[in-house]
Formats: sequence, C-alpha cells, structure tokens
Amino acid sequence: MSRTSCCRICNGTVTEFFDFGRQPLSDCFLVPGSAVEKEFFFRLAIGICAECSMVQLMREVPREHMFHEDYPYHSSGSVYMRTHFENLAKRLISTELTGDSPFAVEIGCNDGIMLQVLADAGIRHLGVEPSGGVADLAAAKGIRVRKSFFEDEVAADILEREGHADVIYAANTLCHIPYIGSVLSGVTKLLAPGGVFVFEDPYLADIVARTSFDQIYDEHFFLFSAQSVQFMARRHGLELVDVERLPVHGGEVRYTLAHRGAREPSPAVAELLAEEQRMSISDLVTLEGFGENVQKIFRDLTTLLLELKADGKRVVGYGATAKSSVVTNFCGIGPELVEFVSDITPSKQGRLTPGVHIPVRPHEEFSDAYPDYALLFAWNHAEEIMEKEQEFRAAGGKWIMYVPDVHVV
Ligand code: SAM
Ligand code: TMP
Ligand code: ZN
Repeated sequence: MSRTSCCRICNGTVTEFFDFGRQPLSDCFLVPGSAVEKEFFFRLAIGICAECSMVQLMREVPREHMFHEDYPYHSSGSVYMRTHFENLAKRLISTELTGDSPFAVEIGCNDGIMLQVLADAGIRHLGVEPSGGVADLAAAKGIRVRKSFFEDEVAADILEREGHADVIYAANTLCHIPYIGSVLSGVTKLLAPGGVFVFEDPYLADIVARTSFDQIYDEHFFLFSAQSVQFMARRHGLELVDVERLPVHGGEVRYTLAHRGAREPSPAVAELLAEEQRMSISDLVTLEGFGENVQKIFRDLTTLLLELKADGKRVVGYGATAKSSVVTNFCGIGPELVEFVSDITPSKQGRLTPGVHIPVRPHEEFSDAYPDYALLFAWNHAEEIMEKEQEFRAAGGKWIMYVPDVHVV
C-alpha cells in the first residue's frame, strides 16, 4: 500500500504519518433497516507535503458522497457559535463592508448562521452552498443562496452577474475542499482589488498540542497552518495579511488573504509563523509523536469503556459529531459499550451512527433516566454543554473526556 501521495497544493510528495484504517463517511447517519452493505468505507490516512508543509488526507472522498440534500450538520445548533458568527459579521460590516453597495460572498453558508446578520443589516450578499437541505433552510430565512459547489467557474459566473466581492468568507469549509486550487483561482477573480478573503478552520498546531485527532476525518481534507496557508496563497497571487487564533471547535485560526501588495501584513502573521517554527509543527517527527499520543488515547478509552461495562455502568454518548465517527470506528465502540448517542439535531435522531451503528436519540432521552457516564463526543462545545447539564452532574453523572487524554470529570 502506498504511503505517499501527490500534494493537492504543489504536486510535491506527501508522506503519511497516521493511518486510521477503514472508516465510513463521518456524517452518514443510517436509517435503521437500510442496506448496510451499501455503506461507503475508505482508508483514512493523513500525511504532510515535504515541499509546502500542507497536512492533508492521503485519499479524497468524492464530494457528492459528503455534501448532498441530506447533509445533516446544521450550523445553528450551537448558541455559542451563533454569537461567534454574529460578532464576526458585525465586525465585517463596520470594517470591510462600508462602501456604497458592498457585496459579501460566503462559501459554505450552511443554514445561514452568519449571512443572517448581513441580510438583516441590508448588506448585498450571496451564499454558495451545495447541500440542498441546509441551503433551503438559509433561503427560507430570506438569505440569497446559490445551490452549488464554489469553484473557479462558479466564481466567474458570480463575478459576471454581480460584480466583485468586497468580502469572501468561509468558515469550516475551505479545509473540506481537496480541489482548493480551483477555489482559490475563483476567489482571486471574484475578490475586489481591495477586498479580503477571510476563512477559519481547525488549526494544525492546536490539533497537535491537544491531540485532537478527531478533527481528522473525510470532510477535513486539509489541516492548515500559517506556513502552509502562506505558501498556498502566494501560488494564487494572494498574500496572508492577518491571522487570529480562535477558541471555537477546539482551536482554529482565522486567516485573512488579500491580493498581493494590496495590504500590509499585520505583525500577527510573522509572530504565528515564528511560533510554528518553534513548535516544529511541520516536522515529520512531531507529527509521528502526535500519532503515538493518538494510539495511547485509543488504548485508554477502550480499556475504560470495557471496565465500565464489566462494572455494569450505563454509558451514553453526547453529541453525534462527525468527529466521533473516527474514534468509535477505530476503537470498535458500538452499542454494546455506548447505549445511544444523545443529539439535538432532528435530522440525526432516529438514525444510526456511521460504521458502528450506535442509535442516535433526542436529548430528552438523555435526561429521562440519566446514565452513569456520558462520553462527550462534542467536546469542542464542552463549556456550553457542561453549563446546561448541571442536573446530570447533580444526579451523580460523570463525563468521560478523551481529548487531550482520557479522563473522567
Ligand atoms: N460555515 C458553516 C459553519 O461554520 O458552521 C458550515 C460548515 S459545514 C462543516 C461545511 C459546509 O461546506 C457544508 O454546509 C457543505 O455543504 C459546504 N461545502 C462543501 N464543499 C463546498 C464547496 N465547494 N463550496 C461551497 N460550500 C461547500
Ligand atoms: P460539531 O462538533 O461538528 O459542532 O457537532 C456538534 C454536534 O453535537 C451536533 O450534532 C449537535 C450536537 N450538540 C448537542 O447534541 N447538544 C449541544 O448542546 C450541542 C452544543 C451540540
Ligand atoms: Zn505541497
């Protein structure tokens, strides 16, 4: 089996550093009784390009398998994230969208969590969203949405119909796109000469530092760093002009790109690049060390769940996240170890989790008779969840966490 592949940014050689083995699509929640033999599996492995240091999956999953009418992730599920996007939108309105008839484009607007704020403020906007179900939700809120994948030709068409965009924005989307070259050449065309392309995605350094391995799954094709983003931007005549670390989703960076020479890079860019050097996050040795930490988490979690089962304890999962697919499938955690997974997303309820087929149930069943332990799959929303689940704690319930290591709180 090949342990190298060709870099999607620069055609350099990508060397594998961790293999998660055979994995299903992380957001494909099965209807009970449906043909399980049709479930799609692929080998999930990750590597780093020796030339441009972009960390990326070794194999691409066809995009239509992941982003379709039934795509179950609804951004508006988290109150915390709503505030996060509201703050960003307000900032864009007061800094970048101040001209006569400013125009903003969002790549991957999902159910309109961010564009809602621009729409309410009367700002000309367009969301580009291929997943029909969530795009319809956004449209129903009065948001302008184009149901398609953003790529070069789509950007050219938007430019022709609507003119240049002052802001192009993407949250938790750019890292999902293996054909990123086409997206960036589209952005380069569509972006006004003085405009900005702002995107935020999980940050490689946080993933390594926190061993948050479950950020690695089919949809997360790239794990960005300032170093790899700067390299990628330059290939398309763009420049990395700002970076901002974000606490959301377990640690992200918001990158701002502009046309080369249009803006002076902020000191934060050089600072983050220097920090990445100090941490050696792009060294194969560092990434192999990360792989060893991941193996330890898998061993410890499996041991703990088997012990709890032997003690007759009830364990329920909390949050049927895409992320949890990797850990459950790698460790073989099925319904015999985790009774069900509680999730507030209606489209996931009544279904089975990918690969290991744990039933997903509405949140009411979590509190119906509290379990002894809740395995927090949605650990990136821990603050929000712990706050609203104080009764579970009061009833003697305990949380099992597995990032950055396996522990019970
Ligand atoms: N921006 C939202 C957020 O941060 O909560 C949604 C993020 S969701 C994880 C990723 C979204 O990207 C999905 O709604 C998916 O349909 C969309 N997507 C995937 N490929 C895309 C592409 N080429 N162009 C535009 N959107 C895309
Ligand atoms: P995410 O980690 O990709 O944002 O997904 C979070 C999942 O967890 C999503 O399916 C919604 C679910 N969830 C709950 O069930 N309860 C909650 O309080 C929160 C914040 C999320
Ligand atoms: Zn490369």
